[in-house]
Amino acid sequence: MNETTAARCPASAATRPTPSDEPQLRPADVADTAAPEAPVADWVDPTALQEDPYPTYRRLRAEAPIAWVPRLNRYLVTSYTACKAMEDDPESPRAGTENIIRSLGGVPMIAKTGAEHAAERAAVNPALRPKCMQDVWEPVFTRNAHLYLDVLSGIGPERADLYRDYAVPLAARNLADLLGMRDVPAEQLARWSKAFISEMANGGKDPDVSRRAAEAGAEADAVLDDLVPGLRRRPDDSVISVLAAKGMGVPEIRHNVKLIVSGGVNEPQHALTTLFWALDGSPEQRAEVLAEPRLWRTAFDEAIRMVAPIGMIPKTLEQDTVLDGVRLRAGRDVGLMISAANRDPEWFPAPDTFDLHRPKVAHLAFGAGAHMCAGLWAARWSVGQIAVPLLYERHPDVRIDPSRRSRWAGWFFRGMTECPITWTETR
Ligand code: HEM
Repeated sequence: MNETTAARCPASAATRPTPSDEPQLRPADVADTAAPEAPVADWVDPTALQEDPYPTYRRLRAEAPIAWVPRLNRYLVTSYTACKAMEDDPESPRAGTENIIRSLGGVPMIAKTGAEHAAERAAVNPALRPKCMQDVWEPVFTRNAHLYLDVLSGIGPERADLYRDYAVPLAARNLADLLGMRDVPAEQLARWSKAFISEMANGGKDPDVSRRAAEAGAEADAVLDDLVPGLRRRPDDSVISVLAAKGMGVPEIRHNVKLIVSGGVNEPQHALTTLFWALDGSPEQRAEVLAEPRLWRTAFDEAIRMVAPIGMIPKTLEQDTVLDGVRLRAGRDVGLMISAANRDPEWFPAPDTFDLHRPKVAHLAFGAGAHMCAGLWAARWSVGQIAVPLLYERHPDVRIDPSRRSRWAGWFFRGMTECPITWTETR
């Protein structure tokens, strides 16, 4: 599957209404006074979203795929077509920048557009190509996976938790190494990631959350100030070294590295448990993947289609806009619900089912368009090719332990927060 190519829907091409020449996304003009406002969905309950957002998304998609949700103070866009149209548009509005800037202490690439964004994106891309993953990082990711598999084995099949004891520390160790922060302990990087992400959701409201993000930011800045001069003199393959070699200044390196820390730990750790959970719930497909390693790539992408680790891409409208015939007002926030789009039955038949053999349609878990995730190959490699396969290699009958509590949480970001596992000891 190639997410960069335009999506086509083999499943429903014959039955979907053919789009007219009318673009799906455009600035509103005088003629648009007739375009209807988005319906108000005052029934959407943030607490229900936090527990399990999918029933809400199902109803929104059916009743009002572009809706104004007063309790979230934003439009929610839940259809695949509308989410993809806004993601793909080169003039797509900026990400909800205020909270990102507040959390990261500056403007990273995700909050930039046009040439400014393209320059920073071009600087990071060479460090994250599939070839780098294969040639440089595969041995590092493999070593790290064995390290934390040893920890997991030491904890034992009665107490081990895949999220706490493997996914979180492994994702953090992999990212620290990939960035070039070899001396930063995994626990510290994981703490930074959590602090930045919490502040993005907090938006400065809870002073304790803001204080933790500021402290994490100061620690990260101090590490970078130490590292960058040395890496400019003696470059290596790490992300920070490549950014420095491309001429990026220290302030831009700081904001972009903090952006990568926030997403590069949180999302892979959730992708890891999500992939494991999907295989655990589907013994036949698990057997198929274990017998045919080529299928790991498909399994990884299908798992994050089903439960996208980033559920929402936030945008702020700079001008009145018409999206799929609905008028959206300038200045308001929009949530592109990629987790809902990825379960749009028009594009993904039986969308709530994990299916390795479903027709290929580009899912949106990595976004799309100019801002599509820069680290997607790092995630696919570290989690889908290494971390989960090696877990099954170490403990072939590893499974979720039904005698202990499993937990999922979140809708902006979603994943398992408790994933108790067990296996048969072979000694
Ligand atoms: C399963 C794991 C991951 C998922 C699901 C994920 C998802 C995403 C999404 C949805 C976006 C926003 C795309 C948009 O706005 O169109 C994004 C952006 C980004 N991601 Fe990831 N990500 C993951 C892992 C990573 C990793 C491991 C790294 C770095 C090593 C990374 C680096 C970035 C960067 C730098 C951006 C901003 C790109 C830009 O603005 O051009 N991500 N990611």
